[in-house]
Amino acid sequence: MHAMKSQGLDSLSGAIAVVTGGGRGIGHAIVTQLAQMGATVIFTGRDQARMQQVARELAPQGHRCETIACDVTDLASVEALGQRLRRDHGRVDILVNNAGIGGPSGLLHELAPSEWDAIFNTNLRGVYYMLRAVVPLMIEAGSGHIINISSLAGKNPLPRGAAYSASKWGLNGLTYGVAEELRGHNIRVSVICPGSVNTDFSPRRVGKETSRMLQPGDVAHAVAMLVTQEQQSFISEVLIRPTQKP
Ligand SMILES: NC(=O)c1ccc[n+]([C@@H]2O[C@H](COP(=O)([O-])OP(=O)(O)OC[C@H]3O[C@@H](n4cnc5c(N)ncnc54)[C@H](OP(=O)(O)O)[C@@H]3O)[C@@H](O)[C@H]2O)c1
Repeated sequence: MHAMKSQGLDSLSGAIAVVTGGGRGIGHAIVTQLAQMGATVIFTGRDQARMQQVARELAPQGHRCETIACDVTDLASVEALGQRLRRDHGRVDILVNNAGIGGPSGLLHELAPSEWDAIFNTNLRGVYYMLRAVVPLMIEAGSGHIINISSLAGKNPLPRGAAYSASKWGLNGLTYGVAEELRGHNIRVSVICPGSVNTDFSPRRVGKETSRMLQPGDVAHAVAMLVTQEQQSFISEVLIRPTQKP
C-alpha cells in the first residue's frame, strides 16, 4: 500500500507555483495554502498594491512568495511573465489558473458585446495564454500540475449568467483536451468546479447564510489535495458543493 502524501508543512518544499489572480478571494487562499506547504509562490493580477499587501502578510511567517503584475487578457503581459519565470526560476511545477470574472447578471441577448469579450478573454483566452507561456517549461522538466478553476456553472445551466457559464463549459472542455495532450509528458491538467464561494465575486451571497457557503479555503484544500497525489494517480476533475444549501 502507498503511504498518503502529506498536505502539511514542507510537503511542497522546493516547488515553484504560479497562481493567477492571487491578490484576493479564492486565489488569495490558494497562494496562502501553497506557501504554507513550502512552495515558492509567484502570484499575479492587475492590482499590484493588493498583491503586495498579501505578500507582506505572508513574509513574516517565512513563506516565499513574489508578485508580478500581469493581465491574463494581454498577450504581451503574459509572454513577459513566461520569460521572467524562465529567467528567474527555470521551471514551474504548479500552475493554478484562477483569475476569472463573472460579468453582469442579465439576459444574454441584452449583454453588451464588450462584456462578452471581457468574460471570454479573461476566463478562456487568458488560460490559453497562460498555458502557452508555461507548458513548454513543464514539458522540458517532464512534470507538472496545471489546475484550472472553473465552476459548477460550467456543468449546469446558469440563467442570467449564460456567457459566464459558457466560458466555464469552454474551460472544462479545454482542460479535458489539454489533459490528454500532456499526460504523456507527466503533466496532470485538472479542473476544480466549485459552487458559490463566499467572496466579493458572488452577488448571490446576498441574503444567504454565508457561514454555510463554500469558503475560499475549501477550494485551496482541493488544490492541496491535487498537488500531493502519488505519481501514478490523476484526479482529473473535482466538483465542490456546500454540505448544506446556504
Ligand atoms: N466566488 C464564486 O462563487 C466562484 C464559484 C465558482 C468558481 N469561481 C471562480 O473562481 C475564480 C476566482 O474567483 P473569486 O471568487 O476569488 O473572485 P474575485 O474575488 O473577484 O477575484 C478574482 C481574481 O481574478 C483576478 N483577475 C480578474 N481579471 C484578471 C485579469 N484580466 N488578469 C489577471 N487577473 C485577473 C483578480 O485580480 P486583479 O483584480 O488584481 O486583476 C482577482 O484576484 C474565478 O475564476 C471564478 O470564476 C468563483
